[in-house]
Amino acid sequence: MRSCSARFFAFSTRSFAPGWEKSKKRVAYRGRKLKTGPNKTPMKITEILMAEHAVFHNLFDHIESVAPRLKTLAEVKTLATVVQRLHEPHSRTEDDLFLQPLEHCFEQLGQNENFHAEHEQIEAMLTRVYKARTLQEAKKTLLGAMTACRRHFDKEERIVFPMAERVLKARTLSEMGQAWLKQRDARLHP
Ligand SMILES: [Fe+2]
Ligand SMILES: [Fe+2]
Repeated sequence: MRSCSARFFAFSTRSFAPGWEKSKKRVAYRGRKLKTGPNKTPMKITEILMAEHAVFHNLFDHIESVAPRLKTLAEVKTLATVVQRLHEPHSRTEDDLFLQPLEHCFEQLGQNENFHAEHEQIEAMLTRVYKARTLQEAKKTLLGAMTACRRHFDKEERIVFPMAERVLKARTLSEMGQAWLKQRDARLHP
């Protein structure tokens, strides 16, 4: 599992580097199977999701450092929009791919309702930022959402993703990863 973390980090710094959207790397990755590890196996969905988490953690760090100094409601709401736009497809992928195959594991852990419910709670908190009437209320709600996100992401990294790695076959996880990449390519290049 530790070697995976190293791979997640390597992938995240490669693929989500600033300016990546317009870089030549994007062209190079398009339509190809992303490979990783000593055997060059296609990336597992858990590796892809962890790479996304690395980006989220940077975003949470940024929001927590700048939010207290923001001067307008619009700025705070813009940050909430950024998180919501990124989090919605990420959590949808997790729900679609993990809820059903890992249902029995979540039940054993007493987490069957929590996994999906936490996604909804985060979305609801971010939506509440838009409804805030004062700058102070908006900041407090946004920072509360960041705390909820961090708690949820930590649980996924410590429990859910390792559980998926144990329960699902490596090949299945790689196929899920390739399916995810195809969907992403279809969205980016309709
Ligand atoms: Fe999640
Ligand atoms: Fe996640």
